Amino acid sequence: MRPEIERAVALLRRGELVAFPTETVYGLGADAADPAAVAKIFAAKGRPADHPLIVHLPAAAQLARWAREVPAEAERLAAAFWPGPLTLILKRQPDVPDAVTGGQDTVGLRVPNHPLALELLAAFDGGIAAPSANRFGRISPTTAAHVREELGERVPLVLDGGACPVGIESTILDLSRGVPVLLRPGAIGAADIARVLGCTPDTAAPQAEAPRVSGSLAAHYAPRTPLQLVSSDGLLFALRNALVAGERVAVLAPTSQAISHDLVTWKQSPAEPAGFAHDLYASLRALDALGCARILVQQPPAGEAWLAVNDRLRRAAAGSGEDDET
Ligand code: TXA
Ligand code: MG
Repeated sequence: MRPEIERAVALLRRGELVAFPTETVYGLGADAADPAAVAKIFAAKGRPADHPLIVHLPAAAQLARWAREVPAEAERLAAAFWPGPLTLILKRQPDVPDAVTGGQDTVGLRVPNHPLALELLAAFDGGIAAPSANRFGRISPTTAAHVREELGERVPLVLDGGACPVGIESTILDLSRGVPVLLRPGAIGAADIARVLGCTPDTAAPQAEAPRVSGSLAAHYAPRTPLQLVSSDGLLFALRNALVAGERVAVLAPTSQAISHDLVTWKQSPAEPAGFAHDLYASLRALDALGCARILVQQPPAGEAWLAVNDRLRRAAAGSGEDDET
């Protein structure tokens, strides 16, 4: 076993935290079977303790250890998409700690598609509970350096697997209610799921049916700088207003820099959804660090392909401009 994996496994077995890369974002991991270890996740994140965590597994073969019912739909989705960015909500086994499930009768499970995560999970040979490795409500980390910025000495080990290839959190599908319900959009879309299940999943009404999905809070994934979503015309208008007011502004837009000015920092976003998602959190983090008066983001097109990205942008805008460090 490689020394860093050996060290990570030893820490997890001792009830300590280990941050690790997945294909979506970095996770802050603890032994999912150890409530005291899981409690450290909430302390490090500053996250309310009733928010449930996703349990990461080395393989779909371990599903039945955590879920007391594994419906045929779950088996088919696991075969189609795991390892990959899909979390399944299933009825839990009675011995899954309440600290993991937030006291609910269900548990979130996924097999991540990242070589380092899979190496760690195989060596640990158990479930690793892991939320995104950011302080509660802030931008999810997509590099090891981001995790250090967020959590510093709160986490004894950060495994460095480079930049996360997907860049936004997994799709969450609830299979515990009889009909499949999409709780959080992600890189695997409703159409991908429909191709496997033969029916399109329902979408949870925001806030209503999914109270415990923290990704469903309106204010989430947020920079400290006020973030405004604008149309392409609206962008030029807002830029001119900001410059008239003498404000420094950061721009994230798919076009090359339209206005060259000392007060404007312009970042060009990829024009397709996968590239946009890949860069999104790192771009927001970099623009946030400039300390501008506002971040203007040109809203991507509507439609299924952009659904997950638009969801994250909407939440980033809703939660932006609040400083929770006090
Ligand atoms: O891509 C991802 O899913 C990343 C990586 C690290 O795997 N993890 C992640 O974790 O995004 P977190 O905790 O930031 O978001 C997980 C979401 C939360 O909104 C949580 O409420 C929801 O999953 N969740 C977990 N278990 C649940 C359950 N039993 N029922 C409903 N929602 C659940
Ligand atoms: Mg998160």
